[in-house]
Amino acid sequence: MPITMRQVGPCFAAEVDGLDLGKPLSRDEIDAVHAGMDRYAVLVFHDQKITDEQQLAFTRSLGDIEHSIGTSLRGPDEYRLPTTFADVSNLDKDNKVFARDDRPRLFGLGNRLWHSDSSFKVTPAKYSLLRAVSIPSKGGNTEFADMRAGYDTLDEETKAEIEELVCEHSQLYSRAILGFTDFTDEERLRFKPVRQCLVRTHPVTKRKSLYLASHAGGILGWPVPEARAFLRDLIEHATQRQFVYAHKWAVNDLVMWDNRQTMHRARPFPANEPRDMRRTTLAGDGPTAPQAAA
Ligand SMILES: [Fe+2]
Repeated sequence: MPITMRQVGPCFAAEVDGLDLGKPLSRDEIDAVHAGMDRYAVLVFHDQKITDEQQLAFTRSLGDIEHSIGTSLRGPDEYRLPTTFADVSNLDKDNKVFARDDRPRLFGLGNRLWHSDSSFKVTPAKYSLLRAVSIPSKGGNTEFADMRAGYDTLDEETKAEIEELVCEHSQLYSRAILGFTDFTDEERLRFKPVRQCLVRTHPVTKRKSLYLASHAGGILGWPVPEARAFLRDLIEHATQRQFVYAHKWAVNDLVMWDNRQTMHRARPFPANEPRDMRRTTLAGDGPTAPQAAA
């Protein structure tokens, strides 16, 4: 069956037919997936009744896995999934829904702010692959914004101003936006800021993107309030509705996005209902900016 990609919503998202992600992909199929990602940046695969192992195998066929270690407030003995997965569910290690005031849940609410996965790591993520195992009765959409369109529609003066800017990203910043500042000294050290370019160029298409996230809490050389006001304006610009695709999940959907070209956010859902979403992540090629001396 040939692979087809059909645009959904704004032009950066497409539904893919003709691929069974539970089976090993041929070289041609892998190339088609990468080409689709380069073109669209968000690909939707429906009705993929696959296991965790099959999701991992599909992810590995596309590149190197990024492990999730120490990026949440789950303790070492509180992981529900192996570190090959980012657990973006609202479930504890016994598959019970977190209490409303559990710290890992409150920390995880940061995913409701626009972000790019792992922009708080020195080498940020390339693709994320998120599979819906169980979904709530309502809400819980994931929204995506096209950062190429966000860049393209800036005026020339702003493009020139941001070309060389470097931002500082940390989960401490994104959580502080929601009033979550209750971190231990160990956590503050673990979540210390990293540097990311504000403008990224796609290695294949050469298109430029805004590289934004709610994790960005400063711009090198700028006063903090001015930087945050400026970044807030850029995010507001880049997430106008005409640049946004809202994905309404069905069980067994797998959605893959390019973190270099998009931002995304989770939308609210009833806090007492399970939402079991399992993310595998492809590692990026390297840092986007030189880091501060240790
Ligand atoms: Fe995310």
